[in-house]
Amino acid sequence: MSAHRGQWSSKLGFIFAAAGSAIGLGNIWRFPYIAGENGGAAFVFTYLICVIAIGLPVMLAELALGRATQRNPVGAIETVHPGSLWKAVGILGVLTGVAILSYYAVIAGWTVGYMISSAIGRPLDFGSFVADPMAMIFYQALFMIITIVVVSGGVEGGIERWAKILMPMLLVLLLILIIRSLTLDGAFKGLEFYLKPDFSKINYNVIIAALGQAFFSLSLGMGTMMTYGSYLKKDDNAVASGFQVALFDTMIAFMAGLLIFPALFAMGKDPAAGPGLVFQVLPEIFKAMPLGNLFGALFFLLLAVAALTSTISLLEVPVAYFVDEKRWTRKKAVWTVGTATFLVGIPSALSLGANRFFSSIQFPLIHKTGFLDIMDFIWGNFSLALGALLLSIFVGWVWGADRALAELRQGAVDFSWQGEGWKYLIKIICPVVIFVILLNLFI
Ligand code: TRP
Repeated sequence: MSAHRGQWSSKLGFIFAAAGSAIGLGNIWRFPYIAGENGGAAFVFTYLICVIAIGLPVMLAELALGRATQRNPVGAIETVHPGSLWKAVGILGVLTGVAILSYYAVIAGWTVGYMISSAIGRPLDFGSFVADPMAMIFYQALFMIITIVVVSGGVEGGIERWAKILMPMLLVLLLILIIRSLTLDGAFKGLEFYLKPDFSKINYNVIIAALGQAFFSLSLGMGTMMTYGSYLKKDDNAVASGFQVALFDTMIAFMAGLLIFPALFAMGKDPAAGPGLVFQVLPEIFKAMPLGNLFGALFFLLLAVAALTSTISLLEVPVAYFVDEKRWTRKKAVWTVGTATFLVGIPSALSLGANRFFSSIQFPLIHKTGFLDIMDFIWGNFSLALGALLLSIFVGWVWGADRALAELRQGAVDFSWQGEGWKYLIKIICPVVIFVILLNLFI
C-alpha cells in the first residue's frame, strides 16, 4: 500500500512540501489585508496567540492521524473508527479543499497577470484588471491547468522538486523588498500601525479573523496536513517538522506585513482596502526602485510559485480521496476534480467588478460583499474552524489523545512533558476555544 502511494524522499522533502503548502497567498495576500482590516498590531498579536495555542496543537493532531493511518482524511477516520458519522469530517475536508481552491486559483491568476505586466513594463490598473471578465477567466483557467499538470506528476515527482528550489528564493527577495519599503519616507507610521498594538481594538471580529487566518495560513482544518503527514515515514520526527513548518509560515507572513505596511503608509493609502491591497501597493514599491520592472516580475513569479505549492496541496486532498477510496486513477481524479473546481470558481473570478450580480451579492450575518469574499469567509474561515474543532475532538477523545501522543513520540523521543501539555491543549483548550468562537458567530 504505502509503496504505491508514494513517500517523501527525505525528511527535508516533507518540510519543504508542507511549508510550501502553508506558505502561499495566505501569507502575502491574505495576511496583510486581513490585518489591515482588523486594526493592524492588535490583530497581529491575536494571530500569534492563535498560532501557538490552537494552530500548532491542531497541526500535530493532523500529522499524527495522517502518519498513523497512511490515508487521506476520509480513509484515516474510517481506519481508526470504522462505520461512524465521523467520516463526514473527512468529507467536509474534501469539499472545503475544492471550495478554497476555486477562488484561490483566481487570486493566483492575478499574480501571473501582474508578473507578465511587470515583465513587459506595462503596469496594470488593479480596478480595471479585475473587472475584465476575459482576463479573469483566462488567468484562473491557466492557473488551474498548471496545478493539474503538476499534481498529475504525483507526490515525489511534482510537489517536492519545485518547492525545494523556489521557496528559498522567495525568502531572499522578500528581504530585499522589506529594506526598500522600510527606507521610504513616512515608513515609520506603517511600522507603528503594524507593530504597536492598541489592545482596546481586540474584539470578537478580530479574534475570529485571527483564528481563521491561523488555520488558513497553516493549511489546517481540512486534512491537508493529515494527507501530507500520511506520506511521512515512521521514524521521521513529526513534532519537530510541524514546529518548523509553523515557524517558517509565521515568519513569512510577518515579513509580508513588514513589506506592505511601511510602504502603504508612505504612500498614504488605506490599510483596510480589502483583497486588492497588496496588488495595489506592491507595484508602487517597484516603481520606486531601480530595476523595478525586473524586481516586480521576479516577485510576482515567486508569489505565483508560492501559490502553486499551495494549490497543489489543496487539490491533493480530494485527489487522494478519489484515488484511495474510489480507486480512480490519479489522472482521472486530477482532471475531474480540477475541472469541477474551475467551474465552481467562475463566479468568484467575476466578482470583483466583471459581473454586477456576483460582485454585489451580499451574505446576511457576516457583512461580506461579493462572491469571492463570501466564499473566503464560509470556506476559508468558518469551515476550517469547524473542521479543526471536529478534528481536535476526534483525535483528542475518539481516537484518543494517548494513542495520538504515542504516534507522535515515535521519532520524537524528547516530546515528553510537552506531549502531556499537548494532550491538554488538544482535548480541552482547542475544542472549547474554537467552539466558543464559532458559537458567537450565530449570536
Ligand atoms: N496555506 C495556504 C496559504 O496560506 C493555502 C492553503 C493550502 C490552505 N492548503 C490549504 C488553506 C488547506 C487551508 C487549508 O496560502
